Amino acid sequence: MRRLTATLALVAGVAACASDPRRADGTIAEGPRWRGDARAEITRALVLARLDTLDAALDTLTRAATAHAAGSATLDAVRDRFIAARGRWKLVEFLVEAYTPTSARQLNGPPLPDIEVTEGHRPVREPEGFQVVEGLLWTDAPRADGRAVAAEVATMRQTLERVRQILVANVLVDGTLWDAGRQALARVATLGLGGFDSAIAQRHLVELRIALRGLRDGISPYAADARRHAPDAWRALDAAFDRTDAALARDSIAATADHFALLADHLLPLARAFHALAAPLAITIPAERRPWRLTAATPFDRDAWDVMAWAPQGAPAPTAALVDLGEALAHSPLLSRDGTRACTTCHVPALGFADARPTRAGLAPDTTAPRRNTPTLLNAALQPALFADQRVAYLEDQVADVIANPAEMHGDVDHAATRLAADPAVRVRFARAFGDGASTATPAVTGQRIRQAIAAWERSLVRLESPFDRALRGDTAALAPLARRGFAVFMGTGKCGTCHFAPLFGGTLPPGYTKAEFEVLGTPARPVWRGARLDGDAGRGRLTGEATHAGAFKTPGLRNVALTAPYMHNGVYRTLDEVLEFYVRGGGAGIGLDLPHQTLPPDRVQLTAQDRQALVAFLEALTDTSGIRVVPRAPLPAPVNMAGASAAAFREAAAASPRPPASAPGVAAPTGSRRWATR
Ligand code: HEC
Ligand code: HEC
Repeated sequence: MRRLTATLALVAGVAACASDPRRADGTIAEGPRWRGDARAEITRALVLARLDTLDAALDTLTRAATAHAAGSATLDAVRDRFIAARGRWKLVEFLVEAYTPTSARQLNGPPLPDIEVTEGHRPVREPEGFQVVEGLLWTDAPRADGRAVAAEVATMRQTLERVRQILVANVLVDGTLWDAGRQALARVATLGLGGFDSAIAQRHLVELRIALRGLRDGISPYAADARRHAPDAWRALDAAFDRTDAALARDSIAATADHFALLADHLLPLARAFHALAAPLAITIPAERRPWRLTAATPFDRDAWDVMAWAPQGAPAPTAALVDLGEALAHSPLLSRDGTRACTTCHVPALGFADARPTRAGLAPDTTAPRRNTPTLLNAALQPALFADQRVAYLEDQVADVIANPAEMHGDVDHAATRLAADPAVRVRFARAFGDGASTATPAVTGQRIRQAIAAWERSLVRLESPFDRALRGDTAALAPLARRGFAVFMGTGKCGTCHFAPLFGGTLPPGYTKAEFEVLGTPARPVWRGARLDGDAGRGRLTGEATHAGAFKTPGLRNVALTAPYMHNGVYRTLDEVLEFYVRGGGAGIGLDLPHQTLPPDRVQLTAQDRQALVAFLEALTDTSGIRVVPRAPLPAPVNMAGASAAAFREAAAASPRPPASAPGVAAPTGSRRWATR
């Protein structure tokens, strides 16, 4: 009660000074920042009041859970209290997620342990929050563990109190609120639509509606200004909210909803209408580099992604000359110790820069590194961490890792630099690509530059104009009805969207896209459907030594997956249909593995034959290889004086860049020559 009174006083106080901040000339009057912005401060007060009702709902849930433990309340009654509390959470989610992200993760994050690996120190944060409680309550057992629920909720209330204190102690400005809004709209279009935080109870479309209501209430303090300064844009936003709400009211059962329509016709237009209001309301959007640009209305828009947001500081601008140099280097076997392998030996351009072989033998006999299947390089740059175990953050470092890795190229970038620098033409090429002036003292060819050039080329391999994308941007004919249905299966019954997040369909978590999830599926060593053995590769566990990380792998992006067979970190499955069979059986748990830490729900996914066909059609609609060259535009000169480089070895490397199969969609015909390959 004390809290509520304080909050209401704040509402009244702020409302009294919430005059129009515009001056007569239309510019915004700059108030002292510590006061926050008048309109946003009303929102803060509203959210504070709603935190109190959330706390009250959690209190009610605790009492129901305790009564259930004592045998005096049914499981259904406890679930109802849970549903009510989640509704309260959804109303404040848009601001709490943006304002106190760590607490938000504790309140409603995935039910996985969160392990931050820093040098020598690995705090493991046990999962907590709504999703954990959901798991406790939606059990197959006749009774839930009421005591465990009560204990869990008690922790949540402590976290909530921290959120409240932070929100009381700080102020809110327009830009922060607006950013919270655009992130909330991206969150519902990706996580919300895919049921990320309601994977068991499957109430996400109902909750998505509530989340939108929370946001709509949260921006209501802007209504008066908007009606005055941008009446049409405000009406459009209002109408988009109404239409989306009505669509969700009709179509809130995940198993039957038309997810593509919800996304393309409602959630994305709504986000665009919201975005369009920032300028007329003179809201200053924070000037920051973000994976999906702050200038983009949604992460699904054309040109939304800023690949340099994942680049290290000081990465050179990706000019055409630099990208071409990187491409030439990636095709050159000069980088490997014995001249037998280029990047493209394994990352085969015509196969979406992946490899048809499940794995390859290492170049050094003593290698202990696990053998893995070669992943695609298309859109690989759009990730906060690389490799199946995410051991490396930047492409630049990844290049050095690969070249040095005995299982891959078993070389050394600095040696490679010395070798390359022996050729004056190569020196000139590096100097030009890096814009060296006449007086530059540093050597033109260095290990660091090799890494930077290859990374620049990899960043040029972003392709986000697949049929699926084109359909979302208005060309509805681009997506066949079967594929469109496949998207609904992917986001709905298949629950694929709970791990493979749109629009990149990998494990990088929206709406920030700065952190990626690991999952334990129980990928077997061999493609058998019973009595399976686990693959010996511990994945993330090899790095962290954490039991829960044993067999944990990065959720890979699924774009261009139609080109990149075989699948999984060990290439165990040859076709997409085999991958689906694995999921339908409930992953490792369904094929004879006993994995206490499997994060894939072990129950069978119910998919009909048509569902599976539709899913494959959808995955095939994620292909875009437009403008991809099979041979470099400007290859490096033939290698000279390379010890150990045999003609046969070069032929192997050359064979890695075959002409594209006639059926490979959109792969450009070879344009360059293969001079290095024929010597
Ligand atoms: C012998 C085959 C082979 C060669 C040669 C090779 N790679 Fe790879 N590449 C792989 C495999 C296998 C992985 C996955 C390793 C893992 O997950 O631990 C990988 C992973 C990657 C990744 C991470 C992709 C992701 O999504 O995590 C990038 C980027 C990459 N390679 C680029 C390169 C570059 C650049 C070169 C040349 C300098 C190169 N590779 C040479 C086999 C190869
Ligand atoms: C619990 C999280 C999770 C769910 C749910 C999930 N996936 Fe995956 N998916 C992963 C992970 C992790 C991998 C990588 C596994 C490995 O390398 O062993 C993966 C791999 C794949 C691959 C292979 C990609 C490649 O390039 O090798 C495909 C295809 C795929 N998933 C499709 C789907 C589909 C379709 C669904 C829904 C039926 C789905 N996934 C549901 C986490 C998930």
